[in-house]
Parts: sequence; C-alpha cells; structure tokens
Amino acid sequence: MLIAQISDTHLALDTPDADRRRADFAAVVADINALDPAPDLIVHSGDIVHNGLAEEYAEARAILERAQAPVYAMAGNKDERGNLSAAFSADGYFDPGSDFIQYAVEGHPVRLVMLDTVSISSNKGDFCARRIEELHRLIGADPVRPVAVFLHHPPFEVLVGPERMHFESQEVMSRLCDALRQSGRVSALFCGHVHRPTEGHVGDIPVTVATAVATTLRKGDYPAQMEGRPIYYLHRFDPSGGATTETRVAGG
Ligand SMILES: [Fe+2]
Repeated sequence: MLIAQISDTHLALDTPDADRRRADFAAVVADINALDPAPDLIVHSGDIVHNGLAEEYAEARAILERAQAPVYAMAGNKDERGNLSAAFSADGYFDPGSDFIQYAVEGHPVRLVMLDTVSISSNKGDFCARRIEELHRLIGADPVRPVAVFLHHPPFEVLVGPERMHFESQEVMSRLCDALRQSGRVSALFCGHVHRPTEGHVGDIPVTVATAVATTLRKGDYPAQMEGRPIYYLHRFDPSGGATTETRVAGG
C-alpha cells in the first residue's frame, strides 16, 4: 500500500507569495500523478488554506481535483472546519454533521484513522474527551488490520525549532498519546504543522513529520537541489503494517 502525504499548502489569495503557494501545490499534485506505481491514495494532513476562506478552499479543491488518486483532506490550525467541510464533504468520507473532521479510511491492507487536533482558541493542538472517545471507536471498528494515524499537530516534544510543545498542554498531549499507545494497534503516526521534516516516537510508535509543501513557508535547512521545489512524502506499508517513508521533491 502506497500513500502520498502532502501537508501545509497554506493556499492564500492575497499574500505576496500567493502564486508561489498555488504553484507549489499544483506541482506536487502533478508529480504524484506521474508516479509509477501510482499511490493508492493521497492524504493532505492539514493547513490546506491559510485563512480558512471559502474562496481559498475553492482553489484548493480545484487543484486537488486534478489528482488521479483519491484525496483525503484533514483539518489543520489554519483551516476552518465549516468551510473545509463545505468544500470536501461531497466526497463522502467524513460526516459533515459532526463537530470534528475525524474519520477512518477503509478498504486497504492498513486502515487509516484521521484525527482532528484543531483548537478553537489557539494554533496549538487540542484533543478533548469526545475526540478520545471517537478515536477509540475508530480504531476499535476493525480488530484485525493494522492502523496508521494521521494528525496535524505532532504529539511529542519536537526538539528542533523554537517551540517544543505543539499541544495546548502536556495534559492534553498525554491524554492523546495514552489513547494511541493503549490501543496497541497503531503502527505509525504521520503529522505536519511544524513546516520542517522531523521524527519522534509515541511510546513504540514511530512518528514522521512532513514539512510544508509551500516552499516560502518551509523552516530548517534543505539541500541545494530542493531550493524552491516543493516536498512531499511517500509512505509504503508492508502487510504487517511496517512503514518506510521516501521524501519526494516535485519535478525531481
Ligand atoms: Fe502550517
């Protein structure tokens, strides 16, 4: 099973780099379309747009509609649930009536569980008791197949960059990590948010953090050949649920 992950496209209409962000987003979709073998699906792990506006989602939607593989959208802190839901709910993979955009992707050797870590009061991650309950329900729905979990905010202390904690409190992050660990079923975690590539662990579960597709918003150091070229990721799963990740440079 092959999953393409794109993250933090931050599509905007009126920033000086708006055209660049649009071009970066379009370039990764074109690159994914040219992959052989093609991925089974594409996950956008949040911050699809920059201001949560319906007009921004219309543009994001138009770019993602060019993708040949099915696309699964998630919410990041810059997203606005109502407008994201309006733009993507017609695809039918999440419940537009729910307060949170949390869902499972079925029909593959590895089940994907997509979490909504958005807070209404800050850019940091939140995960309330209702979402914990839903997480248990989503993971427990199939007792056999391994589970990979996607969430926008990294649920571990990120040691690179100015900020270590990306959840509102240690308590909130621990509650989420305990739920992920205790399930005993999660084989890998995938995030975005920090705009730099990094890795971590939640107990024994490896966490891979994707950098931003938007080249103007990337943080950290990148090899010269990546300059100005957007980055995305290909996650390959073996049947036992183990994953290896390849970093892809669009157009490379
Ligand atoms: Fe972001």
